[in-house]
Amino acid sequence: MSAVLEVRNLSASIAGQQVVEDVSFTVPATGVTAVLGRNGVGKTSTIKAVLGLIDRTGTVLLDGEPIDREPTHRIVRRGVGYVPEDREVFTGLTVEENLRLAVRDREPRRDLVEALFPDLVRRSAQRAGTLSGGQQQMLSMARALLNRNRLLLVDEPTKGLAPKIVTELAVALEEAARTVPILLVEQNLQVIERLAQDVVVIDGGRVVHAGPAADLLGDEAAVRRYLGVHAEEPGAAPPRTHRTAEEARP
Ligand SMILES: Nc1ncnc2c1ncn2[C@@H]1O[C@H](COP(=O)(O)OP(=O)(O)O)[C@@H](O)[C@H]1O
Ligand SMILES: [Mg+2]
Repeated sequence: MSAVLEVRNLSASIAGQQVVEDVSFTVPATGVTAVLGRNGVGKTSTIKAVLGLIDRTGTVLLDGEPIDREPTHRIVRRGVGYVPEDREVFTGLTVEENLRLAVRDREPRRDLVEALFPDLVRRSAQRAGTLSGGQQQMLSMARALLNRNRLLLVDEPTKGLAPKIVTELAVALEEAARTVPILLVEQNLQVIERLAQDVVVIDGGRVVHAGPAADLLGDEAAVRRYLGVHAEEPGAAPPRTHRTAEEARP
Protein backbone atom coordinates (compact mmCIF):
# COMPACT_ATOMS: atom_id res chain seq x y z
CA MET A 1 0.00 0.00 0.00
CA SER A 2 1.23 3.53 -0.69
CA ALA A 3 2.48 5.67 2.18
CA VAL A 4 1.14 9.13 2.93
CA LEU A 5 4.12 9.85 5.18
CA GLU A 6 7.60 8.48 5.02
CA VAL A 7 10.06 9.36 7.76
CA ARG A 8 13.71 8.45 7.20
CA ASN A 9 16.58 8.93 9.63
CA LEU A 10 14.82 11.73 11.47
CA SER A 11 16.75 13.25 14.35
CA ALA A 12 15.82 16.24 16.48
CA SER A 13 17.08 18.16 19.46
CA ILE A 14 15.49 20.35 22.08
CA ALA A 15 17.75 22.81 23.92
CA GLY A 16 20.84 20.96 22.71
CA GLN A 17 19.60 17.57 23.88
CA GLN A 18 18.89 14.94 21.23
CA VAL A 19 15.32 13.71 21.77
CA VAL A 20 14.70 11.96 18.41
CA GLU A 21 17.47 9.70 17.11
CA ASP A 22 17.55 8.30 13.61
CA VAL A 23 13.82 7.52 13.53
CA SER A 24 12.39 5.86 10.41
CA PHE A 25 8.82 4.68 9.77
CA THR A 26 6.02 4.96 7.24
CA VAL A 27 2.35 5.81 7.60
CA PRO A 28 0.00 4.05 5.15
CA ALA A 29 -2.43 6.22 3.19
CA THR A 30 -5.44 4.83 5.06
CA GLY A 31 -6.37 3.99 8.63
CA VAL A 32 -4.66 4.61 11.94
CA THR A 33 -0.98 4.13 12.70
CA ALA A 34 -0.21 4.31 16.41
CA VAL A 35 2.96 5.63 18.02
CA LEU A 36 3.53 4.25 21.45
CA GLY A 37 6.13 4.11 24.16
CA ARG A 38 6.65 5.13 27.75
CA ASN A 39 6.50 8.72 28.94
CA GLY A 40 9.38 10.92 27.88
CA VAL A 41 10.71 8.62 25.13
CA GLY A 42 10.23 11.16 22.32
CA LYS A 43 6.74 10.54 20.86
CA THR A 44 5.65 14.18 20.96
CA SER A 45 9.09 15.29 19.80
CA THR A 46 8.82 12.98 16.78
CA ILE A 47 5.49 14.56 15.81
CA LYS A 48 6.91 18.06 16.35
CA ALA A 49 9.96 17.20 14.24
CA VAL A 50 7.69 16.03 11.38
CA LEU A 51 5.87 19.37 11.62
CA GLY A 52 9.09 21.38 11.81
CA LEU A 53 8.17 22.72 15.23
CA ILE A 54 11.60 21.68 16.51
CA ASP A 55 14.95 21.61 14.67
CA ARG A 56 15.34 18.36 12.78
CA THR A 57 17.52 16.55 10.28
CA GLY A 58 16.59 13.65 8.03
CA THR A 59 14.01 13.05 5.36
CA VAL A 60 10.24 13.46 5.66
CA LEU A 61 8.10 12.78 2.59
CA LEU A 62 4.43 13.68 2.37
CA ASP A 63 2.88 11.80 -0.55
CA GLY A 64 6.42 11.37 -1.83
CA GLU A 65 7.32 15.07 -1.66
CA PRO A 66 9.98 16.27 0.77
CA ILE A 67 8.72 18.52 3.56
CA ASP A 68 11.74 18.32 5.86
CA ARG A 69 13.09 21.73 4.81
CA GLU A 70 9.75 23.48 4.93
CA PRO A 71 8.50 25.75 7.67
CA THR A 72 5.58 24.55 9.76
CA HIS A 73 2.95 26.81 8.18
CA ARG A 74 3.74 25.44 4.70
CA ILE A 75 3.56 21.86 5.97
CA VAL A 76 0.17 22.60 7.51
CA ARG A 77 -0.99 24.23 4.27
CA ARG A 78 0.03 21.11 2.37
CA GLY A 79 -2.61 19.30 4.40
CA VAL A 80 -1.11 18.09 7.64
CA GLY A 81 -3.54 18.58 10.52
CA TYR A 82 -2.29 18.63 14.11
CA VAL A 83 -4.13 17.93 17.33
CA PRO A 84 -1.53 18.75 19.99
CA GLU A 85 -1.03 16.94 23.26
CA ASP A 86 -2.25 19.83 25.40
CA ARG A 87 -5.28 20.51 23.14
CA GLU A 88 -4.50 24.23 22.76
CA VAL A 89 -8.02 25.53 22.30
CA PHE A 90 -8.58 29.24 22.82
CA THR A 91 -10.10 29.16 26.28
CA GLY A 92 -11.40 32.73 26.16
CA LEU A 93 -13.30 32.16 22.92
CA THR A 94 -16.52 30.26 22.34
CA VAL A 95 -16.69 26.85 20.72
CA GLU A 96 -17.98 28.43 17.51
CA GLU A 97 -15.22 31.06 17.49
CA ASN A 98 -12.61 28.33 17.98
CA LEU A 99 -14.01 26.45 15.01
CA ARG A 100 -14.21 29.52 12.79
CA LEU A 101 -10.59 30.41 13.50
CA ALA A 102 -9.46 26.94 12.46
CA VAL A 103 -11.03 27.08 8.99
CA ARG A 104 -8.51 26.98 6.15
CA ASP A 105 -10.58 25.42 3.38
CA ARG A 106 -13.09 27.34 1.28
CA GLU A 107 -15.70 24.76 2.16
CA PRO A 108 -15.02 23.45 5.65
CA ARG A 109 -16.46 20.05 6.55
CA ARG A 110 -19.05 21.33 8.97
CA ASP A 111 -21.32 18.34 8.41
CA LEU A 112 -18.65 15.85 9.37
CA VAL A 113 -17.71 17.76 12.50
CA GLU A 114 -21.31 18.23 13.57
CA ALA A 115 -22.05 14.54 13.01
CA LEU A 116 -19.01 13.47 15.00
CA PHE A 117 -19.42 15.94 17.85
CA PRO A 118 -23.11 16.80 18.40
CA ASP A 119 -22.24 17.98 21.90
CA LEU A 120 -20.12 20.77 20.45
CA VAL A 121 -23.06 21.97 18.36
CA ARG A 122 -25.14 22.27 21.52
CA ARG A 123 -22.30 24.15 23.19
CA SER A 124 -21.37 26.43 20.30
CA ALA A 125 -21.88 29.61 22.35
CA GLN A 126 -20.04 28.26 25.40
CA ARG A 127 -16.56 29.53 26.21
CA ALA A 128 -14.00 26.80 25.51
CA GLY A 129 -12.34 27.39 28.88
CA THR A 130 -15.49 26.19 30.62
CA LEU A 131 -15.60 22.87 28.72
CA SER A 132 -14.49 19.61 30.34
CA GLY A 133 -11.17 18.09 29.32
CA GLY A 134 -12.95 15.62 27.05
CA GLN A 135 -15.02 18.35 25.40
CA GLN A 136 -11.89 20.44 24.83
CA GLN A 137 -10.25 17.41 23.22
CA MET A 138 -13.27 17.02 20.92
CA LEU A 139 -13.05 20.71 20.03
CA SER A 140 -9.36 20.36 19.27
CA MET A 141 -10.09 17.37 17.00
CA ALA A 142 -13.01 19.20 15.38
CA ARG A 143 -10.71 22.12 14.53
CA ALA A 144 -8.39 19.78 12.65
CA LEU A 145 -11.19 17.85 10.94
CA LEU A 146 -12.86 20.98 9.51
CA ASN A 147 -10.17 21.08 6.81
CA ARG A 148 -9.52 18.43 4.19
CA ASN A 149 -6.15 17.14 5.30
CA ARG A 150 -3.92 14.53 3.73
CA LEU A 151 -2.77 13.41 7.17
CA LEU A 152 -3.76 14.04 10.75
CA LEU A 153 -1.25 13.97 13.62
CA VAL A 154 -3.06 13.38 16.90
CA ASP A 155 -1.04 13.40 20.14
CA GLU A 156 -2.45 11.48 23.13
CA PRO A 157 -6.09 12.52 22.77
CA THR A 158 -7.31 10.24 25.57
CA LYS A 159 -4.72 11.27 28.15
CA GLY A 160 -6.20 11.86 31.58
CA LEU A 161 -9.81 11.36 30.46
CA ALA A 162 -12.52 9.18 32.03
CA PRO A 163 -13.19 5.77 30.38
CA LYS A 164 -16.58 6.86 29.00
CA ILE A 165 -15.03 9.88 27.28
CA VAL A 166 -12.15 7.74 26.03
CA THR A 167 -14.69 5.48 24.30
CA GLU A 168 -16.49 8.48 22.76
CA LEU A 169 -13.20 9.84 21.45
CA ALA A 170 -12.22 6.43 20.08
CA VAL A 171 -15.50 6.25 18.17
CA ALA A 172 -14.93 9.74 16.76
CA LEU A 173 -11.35 8.87 15.78
CA GLU A 174 -12.55 5.68 14.12
CA GLU A 175 -15.06 7.67 12.06
CA ALA A 176 -12.51 10.37 11.28
CA ALA A 177 -10.02 7.73 10.10
CA ARG A 178 -12.46 6.80 7.32
CA THR A 179 -11.84 10.26 5.84
CA VAL A 180 -8.15 10.87 6.58
CA PRO A 181 -5.14 8.73 7.57
CA ILE A 182 -4.14 9.33 11.18
CA LEU A 183 -0.82 9.06 12.98
CA LEU A 184 -1.96 8.66 16.57
CA VAL A 185 0.20 8.87 19.68
CA GLU A 186 -1.68 6.73 22.16
CA GLN A 187 -0.90 4.80 25.32
CA ASN A 188 -4.30 3.23 25.96
CA LEU A 189 -3.98 -0.31 24.62
CA GLN A 190 -7.74 -0.78 24.23
CA VAL A 191 -7.83 2.27 21.99
CA ILE A 192 -4.87 0.98 20.00
CA GLU A 193 -6.48 -2.43 19.66
CA ARG A 194 -9.68 -0.87 18.42
CA LEU A 195 -8.19 1.64 15.99
CA ALA A 196 -4.67 0.91 14.90
CA GLN A 197 -3.57 -1.29 12.00
CA ASP A 198 0.10 -0.63 12.57
CA VAL A 199 2.23 0.44 15.49
CA VAL A 200 5.56 2.20 15.87
CA VAL A 201 7.14 1.79 19.30
CA ILE A 202 9.63 4.42 20.47
CA ASP A 203 12.08 4.06 23.33
CA GLY A 204 14.91 6.43 24.18
CA GLY A 205 14.24 8.52 21.06
CA ARG A 206 14.56 5.51 18.74
CA VAL A 207 12.17 3.15 16.98
CA VAL A 208 12.47 -0.20 18.76
CA HIS A 209 9.59 -1.99 17.03
CA ALA A 210 7.28 -1.44 14.05
CA GLY A 211 4.66 -3.71 12.54
CA PRO A 212 1.00 -4.77 12.64
CA ALA A 213 -0.77 -3.73 15.85
CA ALA A 214 -2.18 -7.23 16.34
CA ASP A 215 1.28 -8.76 16.39
CA LEU A 216 2.47 -6.47 19.17
CA LEU A 217 -0.71 -6.72 21.25
CA GLY A 218 -0.60 -10.50 20.97
CA ASP A 219 2.94 -10.56 22.34
CA GLU A 220 2.59 -10.05 26.07
CA ALA A 221 6.31 -10.03 26.70
CA ALA A 222 6.89 -7.36 24.07
CA VAL A 223 4.10 -5.17 25.45
CA ARG A 224 5.57 -5.46 28.93
CA ARG A 225 9.06 -4.77 27.65
CA TYR A 226 8.10 -1.68 25.66
CA LEU A 227 5.36 -0.28 27.83
CA GLY A 228 5.59 -1.94 31.21
CA VAL A 229 1.98 -3.19 31.20
CA HIS A 230 -0.02 -6.32 30.42
CA ALA A 231 -2.00 -6.13 27.20
CA GLU A 232 -4.97 -8.01 28.67
CA GLU A 233 -5.35 -5.85 31.79
CA PRO A 234 -8.69 -4.06 31.64
CA GLY A 235 -8.06 -0.36 31.13
CA ALA A 236 -4.37 -1.07 31.00
CA ALA A 237 -2.25 1.98 30.44
CA PRO A 238 1.39 2.56 31.24
CA PRO A 239 2.08 4.23 34.57
CA ARG A 240 1.81 7.97 34.18
CA THR A 241 5.03 8.83 35.91
CA HIS A 242 7.57 11.23 34.51
CA ARG A 243 10.47 8.85 34.43
CA THR A 244 12.87 9.16 31.56
CA ALA A 245 13.29 6.24 29.21
CA GLU A 246 16.63 5.49 30.86
CA GLU A 247 15.15 5.26 34.34
CA ALA A 248 12.16 3.28 33.08
CA ARG A 249 14.35 0.52 31.73
CA PRO A 250 14.48 -2.54 33.95
N1 LIG B 1 10.50 21.93 26.01
C1 LIG B 1 11.40 21.02 26.41
N2 LIG B 1 12.58 21.39 26.99
C2 LIG B 1 13.48 20.47 27.37
N3 LIG B 1 13.32 19.15 27.24
C3 LIG B 1 12.19 18.71 26.68
C4 LIG B 1 11.16 19.61 26.23
N4 LIG B 1 10.16 18.89 25.72
C5 LIG B 1 10.52 17.60 25.83
N5 LIG B 1 11.73 17.48 26.40
C6 LIG B 1 12.46 16.24 26.69
O1 LIG B 1 12.49 15.49 25.50
C7 LIG B 1 12.31 14.10 25.77
C8 LIG B 1 11.17 13.57 24.95
O2 LIG B 1 9.98 14.22 25.32
P1 LIG B 1 8.61 13.97 24.58
O3 LIG B 1 8.86 13.93 23.12
O4 LIG B 1 7.65 14.99 25.08
O5 LIG B 1 8.22 12.52 25.08
P2 LIG B 1 6.82 11.73 25.03
O6 LIG B 1 5.89 12.48 24.17
O7 LIG B 1 7.18 10.38 24.52
O8 LIG B 1 6.33 11.66 26.45
C9 LIG B 1 12.09 13.99 27.28
O9 LIG B 1 13.29 13.59 27.89
C10 LIG B 1 11.71 15.38 27.68
O10 LIG B 1 12.12 15.64 29.00
MG1 LIG C 1 4.07 13.34 24.60
